[in-house]
Amino acid sequence: MLLQIDNLTKRFGGLTAVDGFNAYVDEGEVVGLIGPNGAGKSTVFNLVTGVFPPTSGRVFFDGEDITRKKPHTVAELGIGRTFQMNLLFADFTVLENVSASSHVYPRSSLFDMYFNTRRYRRNEAEISDRALQILQLLGLESYKDELAKNLPHGYQKMLGVARALATKPKLLMLDEPLGGMNPSEIDFSLQAISNARDSGVTVLIVEHNMQILSLCDRVVVISFGQKICEGSPREVRENEEVISAYFGGKHGSA
Ligand SMILES: Nc1ncnc2c1ncn2[C@@H]1O[C@H](COP(=O)(O)OP(=O)(O)OP(=O)(O)O)[C@@H](O)[C@H]1O
Ligand SMILES: [Mg+2]
Repeated sequence: MLLQIDNLTKRFGGLTAVDGFNAYVDEGEVVGLIGPNGAGKSTVFNLVTGVFPPTSGRVFFDGEDITRKKPHTVAELGIGRTFQMNLLFADFTVLENVSASSHVYPRSSLFDMYFNTRRYRRNEAEISDRALQILQLLGLESYKDELAKNLPHGYQKMLGVARALATKPKLLMLDEPLGGMNPSEIDFSLQAISNARDSGVTVLIVEHNMQILSLCDRVVVISFGQKICEGSPREVRENEEVISAYFGGKHGSA
């Protein structure tokens, strides 16, 4: 088991956003976490990645208890993530955005940088090669010299995925990677995420759009902070509770 979420609860004042939630992700899987608006999906992501601590419960990653670790520690341990509100360097090029993310693990010192040593130049060349490989994997290489802010929305979101991959994660966590996209951007992004999966990274995806099910090995459904069902995409599609959470539940349609 790569990620284990054990009885996780988060209260914001009187509101229980996540309520005794359990889930796991095995190495090599693509797991979808789906649920209506306000179900607690992003809160689960934020608890796993250390954005804020849980009220109770535990999170284990790769055999280690990461429950109250800070976001930078969680990133160093091997969890890369995107945010629902995509965070990019708008005035950097696409390639620079991905290269900048690779600097989570600086291998050159400030001395190397200041004196432009061979080690510094070699390290920078490696980072830029790897950034280019990631862009190729996701189908973004032809945009490498564009400024991030000039990319269409859907491609900006995949650039967020490229940035997360640049940190060499064991687990990639995507928060609504298809949010706000038009149909052609959705097709492009489903292919990009599928390529990322084929490169060997384990993926946990929060999504609203049921088209994501085509990529998932397993799906966990959350409603009002609780897991309401879990299974193959097909089992989940056929489950009545899921159908009512999405189409007839108090949250309205998704
Ligand atoms: N920092 C916070 N402070 C107070 N309440 C919060 C906070 N973050 C989330 N909530 C509340 O917790 C509940 C779950 O929110 P969350 O963002 O996790 O839902 P979600 O499933 O990601 O929804 P969406 O599909 O709209 O992104 C909501 O009622 C939300 O208003
Ligand atoms: Mg959310």
